[in-house]
Amino acid sequence: MALPAPDPDSTALVTGASSGIGRELARGLAARGHGVTLVARRAERLEQLAAELREQHEVRAEPIPTDLSDADARERLAAEIESRGLTVEVLVNGAGYGIYVPFPASDRERELQQVRLLVEAVVDLDARYVPGMVKRGRGAIVNLSSTAGFQALPGNNTYAAAKSFVLLHTEALHEELRGTGVTATAVCPGPVATEFQETSEPVFADKLPKLVWSDPERVARDALRAVERGRRTVIPGGAPVRVGFGPNRIMPARLTIPVTRQLMAQELRRARAVQP
Ligand SMILES: NC(=O)c1ccc[n+]([C@@H]2O[C@H](COP(=O)([O-])OP(=O)(O)OC[C@H]3O[C@@H](n4cnc5c(N)ncnc54)[C@H](OP(=O)(O)O)[C@@H]3O)[C@@H](O)[C@H]2O)c1
Repeated sequence: MALPAPDPDSTALVTGASSGIGRELARGLAARGHGVTLVARRAERLEQLAAELREQHEVRAEPIPTDLSDADARERLAAEIESRGLTVEVLVNGAGYGIYVPFPASDRERELQQVRLLVEAVVDLDARYVPGMVKRGRGAIVNLSSTAGFQALPGNNTYAAAKSFVLLHTEALHEELRGTGVTATAVCPGPVATEFQETSEPVFADKLPKLVWSDPERVARDALRAVERGRRTVIPGGAPVRVGFGPNRIMPARLTIPVTRQLMAQELRRARAVQP
């Protein structure tokens, strides 16, 4: 099993635990007996989940509210985990949102914030915890990428690029970790019914057939199964999602871009809406 066995002094650090896929991954890890460190910005949500997991699974669960796009806040998070005497043996980078506005019309600071969360925070947390895992010879990294990272997405520019970054970073890491006892798995869901649909408003997703939608419980279940098997990459949600989005990874841009341009027509029109 590539997922390390639970230990009283070890923790599974789960970011994005206040909602959606992150919350389900935290539930899945707690159900396997892992103590969990729950991270997101909404403290009350994390408190509720911690209470639920302690009661249902009799595991240690501590909420540490953190804005992960803030480097100082990440420093405080790491210090807090250390001061509690906890060793991070499972790291789930789940926090995220997406900007669905064409880049030329988008807000510079919002774009930077998105990259800080989706790219910088992932690299930071992986860099903090991977070396210790290698030294101890056990650990698992679980990074949330997306099928959005399989091709360029006009109208969702830096989100897709960031998810592509996470995918390639994780796949290379998986290989670099070979033989160390530590694994890295990139999780690439298609559309998932979570709060993401309200916070990020990917209107194109409404055009996609119901068949390719997943619920967060299924995504977490498939993801943890893949982690247990030490898989490099997983497209959770079953065959329709794999068949619907998988080929885009290997198709040239001249084939994918005309299709994504059609699909993202509403997002692309947002450029006109925000122009003076
Ligand atoms: N839903 C989809 O269709 C879909 C598809 C493919 C990939 N994904 C990816 O899967 C991951 C989870 O998404 P989801 O669908 O579960 O969305 P969600 O329900 O909206 O959850 C997003 C999580 O990220 C946290 N978060 C956002 N900004 C943060 C910040 N600055 N600092 C700390 N935490 C922050 C949110 O918590 P707070 O608001 O409390 O901070 C929340 O817990 C994301 O990386 C997303 O890109 C989603």
